[in-house]
Amino acid sequence: MNLGVGAYRDDNGKPYVLECVKKAEAVLLEKGLDKEYAGITGVPEFNKAAAALAYGEDSAVLAENRLAVTQSISGTGALNIGANFLNSFYPHAKSIMVPNPTWGNHNAIFSRAGLKVEKYGYFDKQTNGLNINAMLEDIKAAPKNTAILLHACAHNPTGVDPTKEQWDEISQVIKDREHFAFFDMAYQGFASGDCTKDAYALRKFVSEGQQVVLSQSFAKNMGLYGERVGSFSVICADADEKARVDSQLKILIRPMYSNPPIHGARLVSTVLNTPELKQQWLDEIGMFCFSGMTPEQVDNLKDNWHVYLTRDGRISMAGISSGNVKYLAEAIHNVTKD
Ligand SMILES: Cc1ncc(COP(=O)(O)O)c(C=O)c1O
Repeated sequence: MNLGVGAYRDDNGKPYVLECVKKAEAVLLEKGLDKEYAGITGVPEFNKAAAALAYGEDSAVLAENRLAVTQSISGTGALNIGANFLNSFYPHAKSIMVPNPTWGNHNAIFSRAGLKVEKYGYFDKQTNGLNINAMLEDIKAAPKNTAILLHACAHNPTGVDPTKEQWDEISQVIKDREHFAFFDMAYQGFASGDCTKDAYALRKFVSEGQQVVLSQSFAKNMGLYGERVGSFSVICADADEKARVDSQLKILIRPMYSNPPIHGARLVSTVLNTPELKQQWLDEIGMFCFSGMTPEQVDNLKDNWHVYLTRDGRISMAGISSGNVKYLAEAIHNVTKD
């Protein structure tokens, strides 16, 4: 049994489209929309809704009109825009620090954009948890103004996130060192099941006046993998700076792909901007649960029952079906009963 899968599956292990997405699709079909190009930065209602989801409906940066935001080709595309943006406009960014380990594509994306990729300590193999001391020390030791990539929640591949208190410390160190935080939020809603809780780190940095950048993806949390819906945003000092950043983002994106695909962005904005669909989505998201099993119990499951999951005991509910739940219950009972 594979309890590590990170994609929605139905009871037969087949790909699954969320109900809220099916309903949004019906709404769009009914409207009979045309297929004209979007502008370079995409579907405006999508950009607004994505920003509100990440930063909060009542976020000061939105009220003050100082968030530059563009639609992107999912999270990967947002990271690429961000990497190129930093390389062009952040004078200190000849390098970026990423956690060790991190999603493999981070290294490729940032180095192809011309940035040197350095690492900060993150995972402690002894405890299977966060090595907060190594993380803070490495970030402190980096030269002032270093760009630091942070997984906003549900760190890939470890599934280990800092606590709120640890995020507060990380934010303080980054602020003190005048570093530049680049948030990658590919799993909002997946860490705690609550989009607001999962945005804690991002919103904390923002509330402290840090001008962060953010990559967002709707691939996982709305199950829109192949639709390639994401966004990239930059917190600016004021509305004037936002206008200049908006313009530079367009100049960057235009030669990359002219403008982004419209269908997925329309789906996301329909879900997020229709109260019943948004509520349904919030009820539907979430995939992982922490079982509380020890690494030894997880090893026992793997070796003796062929049930595979991460050693921190995290179970992907997408891997459980009515056909295998009995076997899993027996296996878990067996490895935890003593
Ligand atoms: C940490 C992280 N960032 C970004 C992405 C980008 O995914 P996508 O381009 O499908 O949105 C992923 C996908 O696995 C990821 O794990």
